[in-house]
Amino acid sequence: MSPRKITVSTLKQMKAEGERFAVLTAYDASFAYQLEQNGVEVILVGDTLGMVIQGLDTTLPVSIDDVIYHTRAVRRGATSVLIMADMPFMSDATPELAVRNAGRLMKEGGAHIVKLEGGANQEEVVRRLSELGIPVCSHLGLQPQSVHKLGGYKVQGREASMAEQILSDAGRLVEAGADMLLLECVPRELAAQVTNSVSVPVIGIGAGPDTDAQVLVLYDMLGITPGHRPKFSHDFLAGSESIADAIQAYVESVKQGSFPDAEHSFK
Ligand code: KIV
Repeated sequence: MSPRKITVSTLKQMKAEGERFAVLTAYDASFAYQLEQNGVEVILVGDTLGMVIQGLDTTLPVSIDDVIYHTRAVRRGATSVLIMADMPFMSDATPELAVRNAGRLMKEGGAHIVKLEGGANQEEVVRRLSELGIPVCSHLGLQPQSVHKLGGYKVQGREASMAEQILSDAGRLVEAGADMLLLECVPRELAAQVTNSVSVPVIGIGAGPDTDAQVLVLYDMLGITPGHRPKFSHDFLAGSESIADAIQAYVESVKQGSFPDAEHSFK
């Protein structure tokens, strides 16, 4: 049986019905096929490709051409899932740049939705993309493209003022037209508050079990990323018989709400 076609509307309906969905990153056709066949609803062609594919220390050097190349490959492998492509560092620094680059991700890469990092500072960019019919996912909390400004990959929103800022940014971005939010590395309680305060689906990574969906970097989830793996990730291949089983185990745990548990969440 071929998998059902997933659109932004499907995911909004799932949120409305309280049904969780599963997201994983992928960067090539073969893994995209495996993800689609094993129940993942959204594939993120993340700028983490700089780290896990290109072996870089950060995502900053990733170019728009890199993301287009990998999005095209993913698109060839998966025909029914929603494909989300990342706007790389500085590709969305102004509304004009963002329109040009998001347009390329959709026209040349075949993306269905673009993801960009930033809070209220990116409100105008989100508004312009949305006005032009480009679906947007806004990435809040830990924004890895700002790693040098933040001084490292740290949990965001533990202090009341930062938590309020994230909550308020989430509302403003949805108001500006964001179709989805992604929250990275924030305390569980804050992620739950954001998820309950907006009508659009919220995808979490290191944000606890109360968001509408979860995402992991595929290679972290298969336990093959060299070096340090974040506390919030889990190796689903350990204890599974195949990659397909590991993907199914991840999807089931997300849908049942058993992943992430307290051990993979932040307070
Ligand atoms: O680039 C990426 O893979 C991401 C995830 C870490 C959410 O943004």
